Amino acid sequence: MFKFVLLLALIFTGFPALADEANPGGDTPERAVVERLIDEIGLRESAVAARDLPGWSPPKKVVVWPVNADWLPGLKSVAPGVELVFVENREQARKEGVDAQAVIGMCDEKMLSTSSELFWVQVFSAGVERCIGNPSLQKRSRLLTNGQRIGSPGLAEHAIAMMMMLARGLDVYHTNQLSGVWKRQTELARTDHIELEGKTLLVAGLGGIGTQVAKRGHGMGMHVIATRNSRREGPDYVEYVGLSHELNTLAAKADVVINTVPLTDQTRGMFNATFFDAMKPRAFYINVGRGGTTVTDDLVAALKSGSIGGAGLDVTDPEPLPEGHPLWTTPRVIISPHTAGRSDKGRERLYVMVKENLRRYVKGDPMLSVVDIERGY
Ligand SMILES: NC(=O)c1ccc[n+]([C@@H]2O[C@H](COP(=O)([O-])OP(=O)(O)OC[C@H]3O[C@@H](n4cnc5c(N)ncnc54)[C@H](OP(=O)(O)O)[C@@H]3O)[C@@H](O)[C@H]2O)c1
Repeated sequence: MFKFVLLLALIFTGFPALADEANPGGDTPERAVVERLIDEIGLRESAVAARDLPGWSPPKKVVVWPVNADWLPGLKSVAPGVELVFVENREQARKEGVDAQAVIGMCDEKMLSTSSELFWVQVFSAGVERCIGNPSLQKRSRLLTNGQRIGSPGLAEHAIAMMMMLARGLDVYHTNQLSGVWKRQTELARTDHIELEGKTLLVAGLGGIGTQVAKRGHGMGMHVIATRNSRREGPDYVEYVGLSHELNTLAAKADVVINTVPLTDQTRGMFNATFFDAMKPRAFYINVGRGGTTVTDDLVAALKSGSIGGAGLDVTDPEPLPEGHPLWTTPRVIISPHTAGRSDKGRERLYVMVKENLRRYVKGDPMLSVVDIERGY
């Protein structure tokens, strides 16, 4: 009866509270939650089972970096017989990591270099440029999984919110509101108030976040085009999927560009003067990926010269953006301090994914969200 009630709760409430103790063996309701998460945000499963990777062995000890206390029973329930060590600080993690086979929640050079058996590293973020930059991660073959796609619905809504603010001039009106000024004549001409329906949105990086952005742009009646790194496949509502080298050609067609690419050797500084010159005059540039993909001085120059219409930046280079930086005072720029990934639902999704990955690792099954270390994402 209890399970029936739980199943109904799952169906009617979306992702449930962390009630794992009710289903210790991972039975039907829990599997439904995982399957739904995989479906909804497109989590990817590795083609290779963990047990077939050279370096995998049934784990005896796993270090878990500070997580919500309510994660603990659930993580324990999927790793029977495994010593899960919940650490409170980096020093403790490094000490415990020496004879651990896996670590959840951190990617630390010292731990990687001193631990002889450590094979699986699960980080919570989607961006892994810092983790991959650790020399010891590169030295030995290891399994790295990340938080790709987990925050994608909220991130996409954040990007769309920035686009709509710029399109409707709300950045300008809000600034006047803060000074208590009712001002109908501003630097915005009537035609600077843009209707987005029918306009073209270029999504650079049609991955987890990019697909959620594309879906929302299409829902608003925009023509959506995109770039990817490896292939031209995309959902039906994306009218054209190009490869990375087509970025500037596609930028010339777009009224709004939303950048969701990861930071890799290939993407560093990719949004530069040549790119901004290629953009349509008065088009908007929005970045929720990584600051390092954009040459900040080139962006500032494009904004100041009026060759682009505005920018929405959740990420900047450098970060934090220092006091007195020109971006703070350049008109038509909206900045949020790398917070687009926050949402009321993100932690719940992360928990479901991390727990599922721990369950799979213990059993030697194919893992979710595996990073291609060589490719950088
Ligand atoms: N602002 C924040 O707080 C925040 C939060 C989470 C993530 N992020 C950033 O957003 C990035 C993307 O996250 P995600 O979850 O969407 O990851 P994802 O699902 O792995 O998607 C990455 C996408 O980027 C594409 N790509 C890679 N290199 C490219 C290139 N040179 N040109 C065009 N496309 C390229 C990939 O193409 P293929 O599919 O063809 O391989 C893939 O579709 C993360 O790496 C992270 O840096 C920021």
